[in-house]
Amino acid sequence: MKNIPLVWKLQENIINHEEIATLINFLKTTERYTQFTKVRKFEETWSKWQGCRYSVFVNSGSSANLIILDLLRDLYQWPSDAEVIVPTVTWITDISTVIQFGLKPVFVDINLEDFSFDYDELATKITDKTRAIFLTHLIGFPADIKRVKKIIGKRKIALIEDSCESHGATIDGIKIGNFGDVSSFSFYWGHHMTTVEGGMVCTDNPEIYHYALLKRSHGLARELPKSYHAFYKKKYPHIDFNFLFLTTGFNVRNTELAAVLGLTQLHKLDGFIKKRNQNHILFNRILQKYRDCFLIPYKEGISSFSLPFFLKQSSLKKPLQTFLSRHGIESRPIISGNLLKQPFLKKYFHTGEFKNADFVHNNGFYIGNNQFVDEKRLTYLSDLLDKFFRENHDNT
Ligand SMILES: Cc1ncc(COP(=O)(O)O)c(C=O)c1O
Repeated sequence: MKNIPLVWKLQENIINHEEIATLINFLKTTERYTQFTKVRKFEETWSKWQGCRYSVFVNSGSSANLIILDLLRDLYQWPSDAEVIVPTVTWITDISTVIQFGLKPVFVDINLEDFSFDYDELATKITDKTRAIFLTHLIGFPADIKRVKKIIGKRKIALIEDSCESHGATIDGIKIGNFGDVSSFSFYWGHHMTTVEGGMVCTDNPEIYHYALLKRSHGLARELPKSYHAFYKKKYPHIDFNFLFLTTGFNVRNTELAAVLGLTQLHKLDGFIKKRNQNHILFNRILQKYRDCFLIPYKEGISSFSLPFFLKQSSLKKPLQTFLSRHGIESRPIISGNLLKQPFLKKYFHTGEFKNADFVHNNGFYIGNNQFVDEKRLTYLSDLLDKFFRENHDNT
């Protein structure tokens, strides 16, 4: 194998010269940079791609989750002691948002097949106070959402699908993000497509959609579809309609520039996903040689987010990460590992066991996957693994 270390970063710039030229041209020809027609167009085009009725473009995946939780508690008038079921492995703002709204996060362990909830445990954590299940489709693996819906049954529990790292993953050919009441996506760089910063709220429910429009932009009535304007003008004749506030809100709007980029990226998204999945299959094939050392999960309908390593022996995790790093390959924890180990979450720590989250925390890490990862890099990785396991033979 060659000795020249390859630079294989976790995130790489996927915005090309053509897109930069499109952005420059847009800047030169528009007089409107804040949310306007390009945002609307991006939302419509995204809805078509995603297969949902409504989409609301915001400035991050975290903001999407923020307004989703806020609108659900307003819309369904959750009591102050409402509980929201969350996974122990997800992105931190899913949990922070629950806490910031004074709701109680109820943690459930994950499973090691699709990395969503341990479904048996999920069923036992539902109480009379449960108002939402905040599910994450983790690292591109589609969760068994049909099973979650069966567990919910006829109970009035909202189902949120955090799809921030699983764009285009499918269940029986249907894109995830279309099974629950509402879903979120992130377009942060390093994700399947990017608007630099950005996120989307998706739903088929017109009430949720209207609330999302209001929450995104200060609670302003003028954000609602035009067909609703006359109604509110008549209802509140003594308030200037342009400054009529119907609910509490935030300002989590995005810009026209980001929407222009979103439109160009969306055009290429299917190709990006295809390449990521090809890489993932090849990666899993490489790991097969060392199947005694690795857990090698795979699920039909995946939209690969990253290339994850799950070492059966935790003592090999750090040495392998260090070895890869020395050879130019960056790595990081699986999202952030078991979030209950984070200092600020200590007071929410339940005495129960979270053994799968602990396994992911202690035994897992991932390297980047994107359209620049190719056979050459994967062969390089394969050679490195051979070298690593030769050197660590006694420890395996
Ligand atoms: C599962 C999950 N949820 C939410 C987010 C938040 O998205 P953003 O970084 O756009 O705020 C991320 C970000 O990576 C994520 O991975």
